[in-house]
Amino acid sequence: MNKQMQDALNKQVARELSASYSYLAMSLYLDGHNFPGAARWMEVQSEEERTHARMLIEYITDRNCEVILETIPQPTHVFESVLSVFKSALDHEQANTAAIHEMYALAKEIEDYATEAKLQWFLSEQVEEEKTAMDLVAQWERAGEEPSAMLILDQAMSSERTTS
Ligand SMILES: [Fe+2]
Ligand SMILES: [Fe+2]
Repeated sequence: MNKQMQDALNKQVARELSASYSYLAMSLYLDGHNFPGAARWMEVQSEEERTHARMLIEYITDRNCEVILETIPQPTHVFESVLSVFKSALDHEQANTAAIHEMYALAKEIEDYATEAKLQWFLSEQVEEEKTAMDLVAQWERAGEEPSAMLILDQAMSSERTTS
């Protein structure tokens, strides 16, 4: 594989693991502030990001290249509110989408068709992830500071993620 492509994919492994770590921190914050449903949702999200990293690791090794694990920065663990947690999650997803777009552009440019095909899954996944994050920001915005609305939303989030 082209060295630049290989480096970009390695960076993406770290980015997915960093997202996983950030979502774990968000889950802990939510749990600590008595939002068990949202905390569980975020924990599942954290696991999903780990799966994304695993998929990239498998792809890099399948292409007979070396995976180099980078340092993962300490995630933010202080938030203003539940809403700010989900806004931050949306920021993460948007930044991740931008990174994947950049990798896709590189794969196209160097005519690495296999990587292009691999990244297509990630492109579709990001559409889903951004949509979900946007919906959740809108829902927590609507709930505002209303305790009963927050309780209902938290409960809805816990049932949403029991099967996945
Ligand atoms: Fe991801
Ligand atoms: Fe994600």
